[in-house]
Amino acid sequence: MRAFIAIELSPDLRKRLGSLEEQLKSSGADVKWVESKNIHLTLKFLGEIDNKTIEKIIKIMEDIAVKEKPFYIRLFSPGAFPKINSPRVIWIGIDKGDSETKQIAKILEEETAKVGIPQENRPFSSHITLGRVKSGLNREKLVKNLENLASKPPEDSPEFLVTKITLFKSTLAPGGPIYEALKEAHLQSN
Ligand code: 2AM
Repeated sequence: MRAFIAIELSPDLRKRLGSLEEQLKSSGADVKWVESKNIHLTLKFLGEIDNKTIEKIIKIMEDIAVKEKPFYIRLFSPGAFPKINSPRVIWIGIDKGDSETKQIAKILEEETAKVGIPQENRPFSSHITLGRVKSGLNREKLVKNLENLASKPPEDSPEFLVTKITLFKSTLAPGGPIYEALKEAHLQSN
């Protein structure tokens, strides 16, 4: 099974991010946009895992949940990997909650490595992927649009209380990936 661990976003936030995608779509760039129901913040991509490993991953998630407390994240401005002026992955960043998110991602990285999950070769960067650029079509318009939005982050950026981390099963299908929540671990410390 292909799986990953993520912070699930509220329907309201997903809707707002869906509208942001609509604004960016007006550039006419060749981007595979993430369907709004699928928008999430990945903490650790696990790849293909077997049933035995799933049990170990769930235990890791539960151990983290006992130690970590709920925290707020706030969406900040859009950006892109590797650079905003040569975008391949378009994302929205977070400001509040960044250190807590990084802390959980770090523990997940360390603990999942112990059960055989390959480690990332890049440092973790908190982001919510909105789209993946497929070709250079209308790239300049997209960059302008992104730079414009990034230069004036919204004053009413929504805050969201993260109360759990979720293990998702991902099934790749011709119409796009299908994500299914398999296990939620509720952050319990206070
Ligand atoms: P991303 O948001 O950084 O693109 C589910 O596929 C999630 O796992 C994606 O949102 C993606 O995070 C993340 N991911 C990380 N590495 C991946 C990989 N090698 N293949 C697919 N998804 C990956």
